[in-house]
Amino acid sequence: MLTQTFMLALVSVAASQDMLNMCMDGKHHKTYPGPEGKLFQQCSPWKKNACCMANTTEEAHNDMSYLYNFNWNHCGVMSNACKQHFIQDTCFYECSPHLGPWIQPVDSTWRKERILNVPLCKEDCETWWEDCKNDFTCKENWHQGWNWTSGYNECPTGAKCQNFTEIFPTAQSMCEKIWSNSYKYTTYNKNSSKCMQMWFPEGPNPNKKVAEHYLNKAPSPGITASLFFLSAILSALLL
Ligand SMILES: *[C@@H]1O[C@H](CO)[C@@H](O)[C@H](O)[C@H]1NC(C)=O
Ligand SMILES: *[C@@H]1O[C@H](CO)[C@@H](O)[C@H](O)[C@H]1NC(C)=O
Ligand SMILES: *[C@@H]1O[C@H](CO)[C@@H](O)[C@H](O)[C@H]1NC(C)=O
Ligand SMILES: *[C@@H]1O[C@H](CO)[C@@H](O)[C@H](O)[C@H]1NC(C)=O
Repeated sequence: MLTQTFMLALVSVAASQDMLNMCMDGKHHKTYPGPEGKLFQQCSPWKKNACCMANTTEEAHNDMSYLYNFNWNHCGVMSNACKQHFIQDTCFYECSPHLGPWIQPVDSTWRKERILNVPLCKEDCETWWEDCKNDFTCKENWHQGWNWTSGYNECPTGAKCQNFTEIFPTAQSMCEKIWSNSYKYTTYNKNSSKCMQMWFPEGPNPNKKVAEHYLNKAPSPGITASLFFLSAILSALLL
């Protein structure tokens, strides 16, 4: 009995450890995170431990890449300043091994899991919005509602191109609505360890600590159960 409960406790602790280092079941994600010799340009900071393959990161830098056939230029050519944030967003989504606490199952034809409410650092959201202010779009939610007849996304009839600030009056509205709440706007700064960084320099990935913070803050049923079993073991030993 004791051995059984102890094993159960170990298993649930191990499961929560995996939450800190895992890949979502997406369209291009690897099954498990691991080192990649080299990742392309903006995705390079993830090379020591990544959920993306090198070819995915190279393709992520192309317009209308075959990753998703997504057309950034649906309302005229997107500026390079704006586009680099969308490339970074793609690197973060494809490569990050520390999104475990925010991975959710999704009923979709092209992926089995998605991210929901990932707390994004204030600077990363605000510079994204600032750099896209002079660009144009026709839709608030870029996940849904496009006309895909030509093989890439075009504005649906009736959706007129407007500048970003008309579609997204605030940085928060853009970061949260554009990918149907994949991101959550926060007022945490990048040095807080409480928000995920889309942009970080080569070196240790600062987002691991952030995932740890949120895992500890909201103990999963697994952790609660393992704590329960551990205390049961302890009291059994003390008796
Ligand atoms: C990358 O290469 C792997 C293996 O060579 C292949 O299975 C995968 O489909 C490629 N992915 C992309 C996005 O090209
Ligand atoms: C966006 O469009 C609105 C209305 O046409 C205009 O008032 C505003 O100055 C524009 N903003 C930018 C950054 O172009
Ligand atoms: C979708 O786009 C095509 C052109 O690529 C157009 O002919 C068609 O009318 C559009 N359909 C809708 C429903 O807007
Ligand atoms: C974190 O950065 C913000 C602004 O970027 C600064 O105001 C704050 O003092 C910094 N906090 C620490 C602990 O370094």
